[in-house]
Amino acid sequence: MAATMHILLVDDEESVTYLLQTEFQEYPEFSIATASNGGDAMNLVRSKVFDIALLDIRMPRVSGLEVLRFIKEHSPTTQVIMLTALADVKNAVEATRLGAYDFLSKPYDFDVLMATVRRAVEHRQLLIDKEVNAGSRPIEIIGSSKTFQDAVGYTRKLAASDAVVLIQGESGTGKELFAQLIHRESPRRTQAFVAVNCAAMPDQLLESELFGHEKGAFTSAIKTKQGLVEVANGGTLFLDEVGDISPLVQPKLLRFLETGEFRRVGGNDARTVDVRVVSATNKNLSDEVKAGRFRDDLLYRLNVVGLRLPPLREHKEDIPHLVAHFLHRKSRSKTLSPAAMEVLMRYDWPGNVRELEHVIEGAVALAHGEIIEPSDLWMNVGLRADAVPVSREVMSASPMASLEDVEAEHIERVLRANDWNRTRSAHILGITPKTLYLKIKRYGIRVPPEA
Ligand SMILES: Nc1ncnc2c1ncn2[C@@H]1O[C@H](COP(=O)(O)OP(=O)(O)OP(=O)(O)O)[C@@H](O)[C@H]1O
Ligand SMILES: [Mg+2]
Repeated sequence: MAATMHILLVDDEESVTYLLQTEFQEYPEFSIATASNGGDAMNLVRSKVFDIALLDIRMPRVSGLEVLRFIKEHSPTTQVIMLTALADVKNAVEATRLGAYDFLSKPYDFDVLMATVRRAVEHRQLLIDKEVNAGSRPIEIIGSSKTFQDAVGYTRKLAASDAVVLIQGESGTGKELFAQLIHRESPRRTQAFVAVNCAAMPDQLLESELFGHEKGAFTSAIKTKQGLVEVANGGTLFLDEVGDISPLVQPKLLRFLETGEFRRVGGNDARTVDVRVVSATNKNLSDEVKAGRFRDDLLYRLNVVGLRLPPLREHKEDIPHLVAHFLHRKSRSKTLSPAAMEVLMRYDWPGNVRELEHVIEGAVALAHGEIIEPSDLWMNVGLRADAVPVSREVMSASPMASLEDVEAEHIERVLRANDWNRTRSAHILGITPKTLYLKIKRYGIRVPPEA
């Protein structure tokens, strides 16, 4: 079943809201809240996120237009459909300007109303997709080994439930990919998937990104902003690098998980949304708890269902398939020599699938011909100052060379892999740009003229 759609009905004639509510009862996918005046409507909007609001324009005291303005400021993704008693052109124009989605004239025809509501729901979805999933491509998860397929099968099963999931695994094992898989295989798939990287932001910012803020909550808060928990309403909220969430934000997240309630920064109203939380970390959270950096009650709430992704070294038989997949994405013509494949099979992959992806991308860029050779494979380039070409075995398998030859070749490779950027290359090589410059001259390394 699809996620529930929340609708707010606002009309001062209670017979109208009563009738509408009765008619909506036949559609269990809609959950209806009603208000008979603008003030009540605003209070409801303060405490909850609605997908759709149906608003009567003419109401005593607070008019429908004022409620519309309030909704668009406090809950911009809510789509508002205005109900008017007469052909009220002036108000219609004004409502459009304020961001109303559509109009219906009273007495309304319920079928027409329903069709309009469904269009508005779709429109909201498109808006959210555009905002949230910009550029997202279909997910492709490669791997047919038993170890890996067990993880995929387990994930598909737990996707169907609404359980809070914690994905653990080393860096680059595909945690984000699996979070997307959970969403796409869940009943919430038509709603938003919102990812938040908890490690990428300072505390204050993370709190306001997650839960939103009221205008004036802090100096730069010039406008009320919805939190990502609200943007994710009906869908899935992915908390990436959740192990890095600060002690300041941890209690707020805990409260949200326990009660479904949150407050915007600078706001007093408790709000509720309906989101499924999936989180991921490459830290060992039990260790973090022991070290006093992570609350154990929060870990307990996040880890209702645990999913552990295997490191690549535990399912090496998937390497050839992954290689084919990454190669195909970068180049239609290049292939790996058997020796190169052997190197990949022998390596330990501390950076897991992400490292393999980068190595293949780098090899496609480096290989002169159509065949990728062991010498085109670079593990960890750009990650560590002691970047090592391939496996040491390969180096020792090549004919004896002088240290200088090896150094010259190594420098050239690092330069090439970094688009001939000398500052970056010097950093990776652990030497100053000046030393790099001198070595380039000494070894006669040919730097392309445009670099
Ligand atoms: N089984 C797989 N099939 C295809 N691509 C994969 C697979 N696993 C991972 N990838 C790719 O590897 C890269 C890393 O995956 P992802 O970002 O999901 O890992 P992660 O566990 O979140 O890593 P980190 O801990 O570093 O954040 C991505 O580009 C992803 O598309
Ligand atoms: Mg990740």
